[in-house]
Amino acid sequence: MKEIVIDGIRIPALGYGTWELRGEECLRGVRSALDIGYRHIDTAQAYGNEAEVGRAIAESGVPREDIFLTTKIWPDRLEPAELRRAAEESLRRLRTDYVDLLLIHWPNPDVPLAATLGEMDRLRGEGHALSLGVSNFTIALLDEAAETGVRIVNNQVEYHPFLSQRRLLDRLRREDMFLTAYAPLARGEVPRNAVLARIGERYGKSASQVGLRWLVQQDRVAAIPKAGNEKHARANFEIFDFELTPEEMAEIHALRSNMRLVSPDRDWDIDEA
Ligand SMILES: NC(=O)c1ccc[n+]([C@@H]2O[C@H](COP(=O)([O-])OP(=O)(O)OC[C@H]3O[C@@H](n4cnc5c(N)ncnc54)[C@H](OP(=O)(O)O)[C@@H]3O)[C@@H](O)[C@H]2O)c1
Repeated sequence: MKEIVIDGIRIPALGYGTWELRGEECLRGVRSALDIGYRHIDTAQAYGNEAEVGRAIAESGVPREDIFLTTKIWPDRLEPAELRRAAEESLRRLRTDYVDLLLIHWPNPDVPLAATLGEMDRLRGEGHALSLGVSNFTIALLDEAAETGVRIVNNQVEYHPFLSQRRLLDRLRREDMFLTAYAPLARGEVPRNAVLARIGERYGKSASQVGLRWLVQQDRVAAIPKAGNEKHARANFEIFDFELTPEEMAEIHALRSNMRLVSPDRDWDIDEA
């Protein structure tokens, strides 16, 4: 497993996404992901599955410190006192004293970022989060976050071969931050892409495996595909025994088409073609 190392924290480049996994399905999914070897699990308060994620981890026998666990605070709970309550609830549900990464799930223009990040920083100081980050932040919002002086290490955004994140990535790398790619399979578009499938034939890999490999082969990029189907989860994990050439990486970069699946109407950064 490739790891990204930032501020001494080791982040497995491939994680297991849990959006839409609920109840038994989530319990089974996270259990089997841990069996397969995933050591990076992505959840959020909004997914309504933190209790199952926590139970699966607790029952897995995998030491807590071997797992990189991320959760996210929903934008209506970003006022400091409320954020603290929300984080404490998450920790109880997750059956742990700390998360490895605590994220603001979406920006909320009505709550000053300095207040939110300040409280998150206090939680970190108390050991309840090992690192902090944001999700769905534009470059302008990252500028605002930087002004607060609170160290954040991650921005989780949509990223797959059909959506360029070059400018955002440049910015994150300059600040020694990493990008977590959500919807890395473009929710089904990657598995059926002919260019990715053709490249995969050379290595005995599927289009999905090539798409995921392309992500994690990039500097400071992690990917968190969701797979309720165990066969998918297993296949997605088998991407560390081959390497794409620079030409293949470029060919996949050229697939970009500004295909944004999540909240396309927001004011996102758009890379020029
Ligand atoms: N921060 C945010 O605002 C945000 C937003 C969206 C998502 N996320 C995070 O990112 C994670 C991943 O994103 P996502 O769930 O939206 O989309 P995704 O990972 O791009 O796609 C998931 C879909 O792909 C299928 N799939 C998985 N592996 C496959 C394979 N090898 N071959 C064929 N199909 C495969 C899954 O089917 P099965 O389930 O049947 O296996 C599921 O339908 C989420 O679970 C969540 O943790 C975060």
